[in-house]
Amino acid sequence: MDKRPVGIFDSGLGGLTAVKALRKLLPDEDIIYFADSARVPYGAKSPALLRRIAKQDLDLLSSFGVKAILAACGTVSSNTADIIEAYPVPAMGVINSVVNLMAKTPGSGPLGVIATEASIKSGVYQRELGSLCPRREIIALPCPAFVPLIESGHIGPDDAELRNAVRAALQPMKDGGIQALLLGCTHFGIISEAIGQYLGEDVSLVSAADSAAAELASFLKENSLTGGGGRLRFLTSGSPEEFSAVAAKFLCTAEFPVPEQVPVMEV
Ligand code: DGL
Repeated sequence: MDKRPVGIFDSGLGGLTAVKALRKLLPDEDIIYFADSARVPYGAKSPALLRRIAKQDLDLLSSFGVKAILAACGTVSSNTADIIEAYPVPAMGVINSVVNLMAKTPGSGPLGVIATEASIKSGVYQRELGSLCPRREIIALPCPAFVPLIESGHIGPDDAELRNAVRAALQPMKDGGIQALLLGCTHFGIISEAIGQYLGEDVSLVSAADSAAAELASFLKENSLTGGGGRLRFLTSGSPEEFSAVAAKFLCTAEFPVPEQVPVMEV
């Protein structure tokens, strides 16, 4: 039993997909979530900048005395795995668990991966998935239009702008006949309904955030680190009002705490 909170961070709203999944698995955990909304999107940043940002985000959460940290961000996870692994507080990213799950997709047809530009450029998803399923074609695409739309509240499956963006970005996936699509950016789980509606029910969606939350829950259980009061605390480097407006809609939780503003970190 360990009542310290769990720390989860992302560039903005995306990591809330992991928060939601973790709360389903371990509802009693206290979670401190940091949304670095002042610096979103991470996906357009260079690997060198992402390394400095990752260190700052980990340090910020660790200053709150967390027992474990989830980098609920595919961009940080794919560009700074060594920093996350070596961090003195137990920390994990979102890549390994989802790649292992995706590799179990039945059949022999193509597999799709969508993530941010920085994640796709790093080649990590393609390499790791390719080594587990060397005989399957992997179609990997960056989807830079999605994060700004999600951050500005275009998240409903009936939102016309979102539907157009999904169609434009994912047509090559449809044309390529993918059997499953790995959502390698945690933001994309927020629009999974729109993605699922476009691709149809024969294509399964495999979420990096959900897999990572399951991995974190197993880690906490196996190491007797579970326990807490089920409280949520939000920190953001951006506007607390803008964060709440979309976050409350996505989390659908009655007790939505007022986000606390933290200073924007200089890099
Ligand atoms: N949600 C993040 C990811 O999983 C970052 C998106 C962004 O800020 O570009 O990659």
